[in-house]
Amino acid sequence: EEPIQIGLLGLGTVGGGVFKLLQSNGQEIALKLGRPLEIKRILVRDVTRPRSVNVNPELLTTDPLAILKDPEIDIVVEVMGGLEPAREYVLEALRQGKSVVTANKDLLALHGKELFAAAEATGRDLLFEASVGGGIPIIHSLKECLAGNRISQVMGIVNGTTNYILTKMSQEGRPFAEVLAEAQRLGYAEPDPTSDIEGDDAARKMAILASIAFGTRITYPQVYHEGISQLHPQDIKYAARLGYAIKLLGIAREEEGMVEVRVHPALVPLEHPLAIVQGAFNAIFVEGDAVGQAMFYGQGAGEMPTASAVVGDIMEAARNLIHGTTGRLSCTCLAHKPVKPIWDIETR
Ligand code: NDP
Ligand code: HSE
Repeated sequence: EEPIQIGLLGLGTVGGGVFKLLQSNGQEIALKLGRPLEIKRILVRDVTRPRSVNVNPELLTTDPLAILKDPEIDIVVEVMGGLEPAREYVLEALRQGKSVVTANKDLLALHGKELFAAAEATGRDLLFEASVGGGIPIIHSLKECLAGNRISQVMGIVNGTTNYILTKMSQEGRPFAEVLAEAQRLGYAEPDPTSDIEGDDAARKMAILASIAFGTRITYPQVYHEGISQLHPQDIKYAARLGYAIKLLGIAREEEGMVEVRVHPALVPLEHPLAIVQGAFNAIFVEGDAVGQAMFYGQGAGEMPTASAVVGDIMEAARNLIHGTTGRLSCTCLAHKPVKPIWDIETR
């Protein structure tokens, strides 16, 4: 069978993981799909940089058009990060009739409306499971499995880097800067880790989750957020003495037709399931009128867990292409619900 051709935008932590997973599990994936997947070109900034994956140098390019304008490429996978030029490349890929898979929460939490409208206009997929919760299948769960519920709350730990830092500070008494550097080495942190530390990354993820859960459009600037940079080791010690763990929580609620979304450090009782979420793991509670409470737990960051979500999306896009059912997960028909202004949110 003819392979389905993929263009990869980025070969860093996540892109490298996707490359490895498609190599190691390629045969099983081809069996499941009935067609093999093949990476045709990979966009990077610097083709001479040493790579952690064993890639044929001829696949690498610094010219985005070599991927976006190649009529043989069916699926573009955006794992380069940042707002621009990622936004322009995703839009161009959709205009060229390609399906797009992205892990980029920065992009979706700010430009989701424009991007989903473009996907709708071209009838192509724009899939983004890896944008929240790393390997945890939370997006598909909210969008599909729980779609029949009225969701009242989505709450939990959605940033692996800060949870890793808080875990190591509390259990090993290690300094913040040392543990952050370790999280960066392990591939958990964003290229600029300020967005992890100051809660921006979690706020972006909560904007995405709240938009899906409550069927409205919430953008990142509407999310109140505080990070963990103001926490001292003593705060963590005293909290433990009083029977609490400090966790960076994302909380999204709908009450009386109004949506509230916030991210901030919180005291969590040590016996609560969120208190035992360690390292780069994430955990997300969802409360719906039919399902009751459901909890999603797993590795929230890092090379292979994130690649797992990206490859799942690639396979879904491939299946849709094979069966001619592209664009079935539209996000453009959303109701308008008022969002509580951030200056009105009480966090203490
Ligand atoms: P990295 O910084 O490790 O990799 C980025 C890759 O994109 C690099 O290969 C880089 O090229 C390439 N790139 C970046 N900008 C450009 C550009 N302008 N032109 C061409 N190539 C470019 O990032 P990650 O893999 O960690 O993250 C990628 C995306 O996935 C981000 O949106 C991130 O938020 C998201 N994500 C990350 C997770 C993680 O655990 N790391 C988890 C979930 C989502 P070069 O190698 O030459 O520098
Ligand atoms: N920097 C992010 C985190 C990566 O630590 O959670 C996963 O989205």
